[in-house]
Amino acid sequence: MDSLLLIVLAYLLGSVLFGEHIARAKGIDIRSVGSGNVGATNVGRALGKKYALIVFLLDMLKGLFPVFLARLYFGLESWTLFMVGIASVLGHVFPIFHNFKGGKAVATAFGVLLGVSFKVAFLSLIIWLLVFKLKGYVSLASLVSSASAVFLLILFGFPFKIVLMSLVIASIIFYKHKDNISRLLEGTEHTFSKE
Ligand code: G3P
Repeated sequence: MDSLLLIVLAYLLGSVLFGEHIARAKGIDIRSVGSGNVGATNVGRALGKKYALIVFLLDMLKGLFPVFLARLYFGLESWTLFMVGIASVLGHVFPIFHNFKGGKAVATAFGVLLGVSFKVAFLSLIIWLLVFKLKGYVSLASLVSSASAVFLLILFGFPFKIVLMSLVIASIIFYKHKDNISRLLEGTEHTFSKE
């Protein structure tokens, strides 16, 4: 397995925006609904929870699969895995198949995390669920959960490259949520169902 090939594959797979394709197949332009985002949350607003779950799983798998291969062929501590994880996320955020206008990469990042550690991914999911239950905002849950993943990886003694990868990914997620952060601070953020 060639390292560069796997990184390119991760980026290309990340560039497939399942939310946009599935919404279009159902006759909806997802970018004109709710937050305008192409992710599972906004697909949920447009098409309901079942489709949100389908998009979440597909976006998650496109992050998990390349990292799984990187781990298998190059190992957890390799720069290849580091690059593959970031490439998947960058693919979703700047997709070559969609004029480089992508989503916020939370589900894809979760897939990457799952490829690194089931334990940390599980705990991050619990944190996501708790914040969502308490506050009702997907964006807030995603932000807290992605930041928590970095701290959990440090806490459990994961290698420097993995921690750095998660830090880069969390920074990308925070950057992509800048409008959500403004709305959260103003008290005008969308809930899961409200447009
Ligand atoms: O995964 C994206 C989520 O954190 C926020 O989505 O549509 O409310 O901006 P949205």
